[in-house]
Formats: sequence, structure tokens, C-alpha cells
Amino acid sequence: MKEHTVTVTDNRTGEQIELPVKHPTHGPYAVDIGRLFRDAGYFTYDPGFLSTASCQSTLTYLDGDNGELLYRGYPIEQLAEKSSFTEVAYLMLYGELPEKEPLKKFNDVIIKHSMLNESLSSLFGGFYHDAHPMAIMVGVVGSLSAFYHDSTDISNASHREIAAHRMIAKMPTIAAASYKHSIGEPQVYPDNSLSYTGNLLRMMFSVPCEPYKVDPVAEKALDLIFILHIDHEQNASTSTVRLAGSSGANPFACIASGIAALWGPAHGGANEAVLSMLDEIGHVDNIPEFLARAKDKNDPFRLMGFGHRVYKNYDPRAKIIRQMCYDVLEKLDDKDDPTFELALKLEEIALNDEYFIQRNLYPNVDFYSGLIYKALGIPTNMFTVMFAIARTVGWVAQWTEMIAEENQRIGRPRQIYVGPEKRDYVEIDKRQ
Ligand code: ACO
Repeated sequence: MKEHTVTVTDNRTGEQIELPVKHPTHGPYAVDIGRLFRDAGYFTYDPGFLSTASCQSTLTYLDGDNGELLYRGYPIEQLAEKSSFTEVAYLMLYGELPEKEPLKKFNDVIIKHSMLNESLSSLFGGFYHDAHPMAIMVGVVGSLSAFYHDSTDISNASHREIAAHRMIAKMPTIAAASYKHSIGEPQVYPDNSLSYTGNLLRMMFSVPCEPYKVDPVAEKALDLIFILHIDHEQNASTSTVRLAGSSGANPFACIASGIAALWGPAHGGANEAVLSMLDEIGHVDNIPEFLARAKDKNDPFRLMGFGHRVYKNYDPRAKIIRQMCYDVLEKLDDKDDPTFELALKLEEIALNDEYFIQRNLYPNVDFYSGLIYKALGIPTNMFTVMFAIARTVGWVAQWTEMIAEENQRIGRPRQIYVGPEKRDYVEIDKRQ
């Protein structure tokens, strides 16, 4: 990697420190402070890591100002239009788009790993009947290492690959079983003749006593949403997976930690929040009142599904998924459902409102994915689970990339201590 240096002057002592600056393929230069503490005795302070690159990665590039997202260099728009979820999964794991035969082999491997160990299937029965499916996901995925310990030697590349395949393959089966448990229906085994998303739909919505036909509109829509959610560089859940993995923890435990981090409303829970907000607004006639509340700085109400921390002009994923959302509502003949009518009216009014225009507040990917999930009959408490299934590919690829690095070390951030100064222990009867 190309480098230059910057020199920083400490205005208190006049001391000058020269630091290397790395030139990435795309994106801003990064000051390398790896030796700063050892050479100069300073830490750096960056709460929330807003200016800190925690790793080098070849997987995903995003440019928030220009609304650009690349997986392994390929624009998300091209992958969304031309590829499939499992093909993009292959790309993320192996670095290149596959030719026909390797893709067929990869699809076969994934489908063959989709069944769960039968003892693992019985684990679901131990959860409370109305447990949130994300709670079940965290527990069940965390337990995978107890069932598949033949693939937990992280120093063995073949173990790592099998673990990666197992996680991608079993996630839909675990997700569907979590849902079935929450509604008191029997688990449905995977069907190896179906696609990744077709299988998921069947495992979620079929019952053993009736035939089930996968709806191709739903299958395609899910495949597209999953491609868009595969990876988003070092977000909270991905950073959690990397940090857990840096200690040498087994891959199943690392992915379980990512699922736990994703569950937070500020991360994977936003599409669920969109539907709750639409329920709260209730009717198109109430939109002006809620828009006024969204603009009022003294009111905590915000339009969920609008705005993005990184994409300040537009979210490239939202552009792609918006069209799919309209297609799905059209094809499933759902446009007259009052929730969708309300959502589309809200979108139209907000996009033409000065407040939202001035602040570049556009509907984000969660606005539309929530609507599509609802149109497909996926219950609100499964929205974040859907996100977790897709993001598993990114987590696994990031984990694999990190473990394969030479000189990989345990992650260990520092802190600025602001507690009491050093003091002596006081016997209990002498404390005031
Ligand atoms: N509704 C109303 N006003 C908003 C909204 C919103 N959804 N989002 C931002 N604003 C306003 C802010 O009040 C601020 O106004 P000001 O300049 O007059 O003070 C301005 O727009 C800039 O907003 P910030 O809060 O500085 O933007 P930030 O980057 O901090 O927040 C965030 C981004 C958290 C996503 C925010 O837009 C938001 O809360 N959106 C709703 C929640 C949501 O949809 N989250 C999902 C994000 S997508 C994802 O995670 C995959």
C-alpha cells in the first residue's frame, strides 16, 4: 500500500511526531497510529469510532457522500440487477465472481448443510412460547459450536470454510424454526430442490398437512433484499463479530455476538420501527401532524426510515429497493392496503417537503424493506431476523478475512480514565 507521512506538533512541549499515512484503493487517507503509544506515549480518543479505521478489508467500500456501495469492487446496482444472493455470497467469501460449475458446487454445498442436527431442533422447545425470534436466534446460533465442534479449529482453513458454509446454510432453517416456535407450529425441514430464499419462505409459511408453492415474486424480492444487506463494512454488529473473533473465539459464538448487536433499534431494528411508526400515524389525514412533530426539536418523534448516518445524499440500496417495493405491491395487489397507502403518501409528502429536502433526508433501505416484508406476510418481529440471515454472509466473510491475516492480534481499545484519583482503602467502620 502506498504511504506518505504527516507530522503532528504537540503545542505544549513543541515535540514533533511523524506518522505514516496509508493510501487505500478508495476513500480517505488513514493516519497509521499503531506505533503512537509505543513511540510517543499518546493514546487517541474517538468515541463511536467516527474517524477510526479498525482494520484493512478487501470486502466492501462505501462512500456516504456520493451514495456508492461496492462489494469486492462491484457496484451494488449491478449485483442487484444481475446476480443472486448465493452468487454474491460466493463473491464475498472467495473474492471473485464464480464460473458456472463452482457456483453450482457452492449452491449444492449450501443446500446440503441446511438441515439442523436433530438434537439442535429440539432446543427450540426450551424457549418460552412468546420469546422474540431474535432472542432464540442468539441462543441457538451460539449453541452451534456444541453440535459442530468438528469445524471450530480456527487455525485450520478447511474448518473455517466448513463453519462458514454451515452458518450461511443453517441460518434460514434456524430463523424459520424460531418463527414456527413463536406461533406454535411444527418445524418444516428444508427442501433441497428449492433456492435459498424459496426454501426460507417454505420453511416459514408451509405446514406439513398442506401443499405449498413458493411465490416467485416473494422469492425474487427476498433475494434482492438479502443481496442489499450482505455487508456494510465496519458497522456495530460486524465490528462485534471481528472483536469477538480476534480473541480466537469459535466462529459460531462470534456470529451469535453479531446477532445480539444487530438486534438494537439503532441498528437492525429500524425496519421494525418503520411499521410501528405507520401504526402510530394511523391514517393519511394524520401525516401533516406527524410531519410537524418530526420537525419540532422539542418533540422526540422522528420519521423512522428517513435519513442515514453515512449516506448523506441518498442510500444507493434504497434506490434499488424502492422499485422492488413498488413492483411487489403492484404484483401482490396490495397497493390499497391502508398501511401501504399511508407509507407511499408519507414518502411523497416528505420528499417534497422543504425541511426534508434541505437536510437531504430521504427514505432509507429500512423504509422499503419493512414495507416489502409486510407485503410478503413476514411478521414485524421477524424483520431483524431477515436482516441477520443476509448479514451472516458479511459477518462470516469479515471473520474469515480477519482470521486469515498474518499477525492477527486480539482487539483491545484503550480508554481515557476519568474516575477518582488513586486513593487508599478505608475500613468499613471508618467510612462517612
Ligand atoms: N426525522 C426528522 N428529522 C430528522 C430525521 C428524521 N428521521 N433524521 C434527521 N433529522 C434532522 C435532524 O433533526 C437534524 O436537523 P437539524 O439540522 O435541524 O438539527 C438533521 O436532520 C440532521 O440529522 P442528524 O441527526 O445530524 O443526522 P444523523 O446522521 O445524526 O442521524 C439517523 C442519522 C440516526 C439515521 C437519523 O436520520 C434518524 O434517526 N433516522 C430515523 C431512524 C432510522 O431510520 N434509522 C435507520 C438508519 S438506516 C440503517 O441503519 C440501515
